[in-house]
Amino acid sequence: MAESMQGLHRSHRCTEVTKEMIGSQVTLMGWVQKQRNKGGIVFVDLRDRSGIMQLIFENGSIDENGFERAGKLRSEFVIAVTGIVEKRSGAVNENLKTGELEVRVNSLRILSEAETPPFPIEENAKTREDLRLKYRYLDLRRPDIQRNLILRSRVTTLVRQFMANEGFLEIETPTLCKSTPEGARDYLVPSRVHPGSFYALPQSPQIYKQLLMCSGYDRYIQIARCYRDEDLRADRQPEFTQIDMELSFVDVDDVIDVNERLLAYLFKEVLDVEVQLPIQRMTWQEAMNRFGSDKPDLRFGMELTDVSEVVKDCDFVVFKNALEAGGSVRGINAKGQGAMPRKKIDKLVEFVKGYGAKGLAYIAISEDGTVKSSFAKFMTEEGMKALIEAMHGENGDLLLFAADKTKLVWDVLGALRLELAEQMGLLDKNEYRFVWITEFPLLEWSEEEERFTAMHHPFTMPMEEDLQYIDSDPGRVRAKAYDIVLNGNEIGGGSVRIHQNDIQEKMFEALGFTKERAYEQFGFLLDAFKYGVPPHAGLAYGLDRLVMLMAKMDSIRDVIAFPKVKDASDLMTNAPERVEEKQLEELGIYVAEDTVEAEK
Ligand code: AMO
Ligand code: AMP
Repeated sequence: MAESMQGLHRSHRCTEVTKEMIGSQVTLMGWVQKQRNKGGIVFVDLRDRSGIMQLIFENGSIDENGFERAGKLRSEFVIAVTGIVEKRSGAVNENLKTGELEVRVNSLRILSEAETPPFPIEENAKTREDLRLKYRYLDLRRPDIQRNLILRSRVTTLVRQFMANEGFLEIETPTLCKSTPEGARDYLVPSRVHPGSFYALPQSPQIYKQLLMCSGYDRYIQIARCYRDEDLRADRQPEFTQIDMELSFVDVDDVIDVNERLLAYLFKEVLDVEVQLPIQRMTWQEAMNRFGSDKPDLRFGMELTDVSEVVKDCDFVVFKNALEAGGSVRGINAKGQGAMPRKKIDKLVEFVKGYGAKGLAYIAISEDGTVKSSFAKFMTEEGMKALIEAMHGENGDLLLFAADKTKLVWDVLGALRLELAEQMGLLDKNEYRFVWITEFPLLEWSEEEERFTAMHHPFTMPMEEDLQYIDSDPGRVRAKAYDIVLNGNEIGGGSVRIHQNDIQEKMFEALGFTKERAYEQFGFLLDAFKYGVPPHAGLAYGLDRLVMLMAKMDSIRDVIAFPKVKDASDLMTNAPERVEEKQLEELGIYVAEDTVEAEK
């Protein structure tokens, strides 16, 4: 029978008990990790969020009834024990913080019994993720996940402390907002009071924080929940958390400065890692040219080389066609991979096809200098030599080339570079390489919408020297936008904002908004700017991504207490689900049965 807490007080968590306490009495509470009954003695590993303590129940130290009940303890029972701290009688367990100690129990209460869990509650359990997520409350008992969430809590506490010291005010902004169609798809919330009208959940507090600057709060921070209805991946959840900030009377360098010091502080305090300041900066153009990505992983080289000039007169149609169509031919040199078996190369070809490439041309140079290539027959001997030289190819190297529109070539080689680094074991989770990416293009052409869209968001300030092109050549305008990238992950991004109405109007024009539509969508912001607006800028981190990297995990699901899966559902609660007819009626919502059928 489950007993109560009456008259009992926990004195310590398991691993708060130290050698200095030998001989004194403690009261511990937690879950039974395992129980071993050795005849006259029962050993129990007691687990709480701090770790494990070995308990020893011996007939005589505890009354007979207590001893008998100890023999019946099973995994995941919740118990409270009082006993004396002792030096461990048996072998010391080097793996445990409390490995030299045990507690000789003189009183036991069983606070709750437990059924056998569907999977073992232990470190690095190899349980399928869907099962773990269905029983997330059990999964969250596992020490590795607990460590991640404890680390996350520490990060948010330190962020709040640091930012408060820097004069930032923590201000909450609404989560029932106006829908603004720029950016990802919104999550909508129907209004009962205004049937047919909808709120949107915020994709970020962007507009509110800019309004707070208009209102004079000058340094704002919020740990804000954001919602985006987009395709999910390991680093994307439909709801996620930002460390969101905005500052008045600042330019790019001021935002970068406070954030570099914040990052250095966090990494030092949490991981004892020194972040070298200032953090390297790289323009978007350089990042694309050298790494094929606007979030380059700088833990390894394998940079891209543009060989368009070298191959421009060759007879290989793949190269020729790409160049004639205005594209480029670029390559990477996978050092020491020249002996890669054909089958494995074919797998790489399949891999790049997943990124839209039509193929992947290669030159494999063996250790003795023999050259094997998928396109040698279309090349002259000199042409081949020049190409290998341009790629700094040496004996034992594998040279890989993509030819297409430049944007696609970047994507393909950027992804291939990471894939190879993974295969070659070049990615060390203990190494942290930060880089700021700056001077992003302001606008990006959307084939789908046949118009320019904002690369960051419509409030991002163009670089002053590029403003002249905003009408004639909008694609050429660079933005005062910056991303902070860590080990190939975009952990944060921000920009200087437009605070001049005339520039904002031009920006809306470039985005294809009529004046009326811009006012309909953002009138309150444009109006606010009429009443005195300070120049302002800001940035937001993806907290989940930052913590994932600090915890050395591969997915943000591992640092979120209750994450959703790929189709945005929650395996534990089964959300989203259909609701009662009455609820829909109140909202004036009719669900077409064929959409429901299609969903099945
Ligand atoms: P942005 O859209 O770049 O900027 O978002 C900021 C950071 O949030 C993280 N992030 C995500 N994390 C998990 N799941 C997602 N679906 C997801 N989407 C984004 C990324 C990203 O760098 N308001 C601007 C910031 C600003 O300009 O101040 C904004 O939201 O780490
Ligand atoms: P094919 O003539 O199509 O058999 O291609 C010859 C070689 O070029 C093969 O190794 C293909 O994988 C490669 N290839 C095809 N298209 C491309 C491309 N766009 N970029 C790089 N290599 C390609």
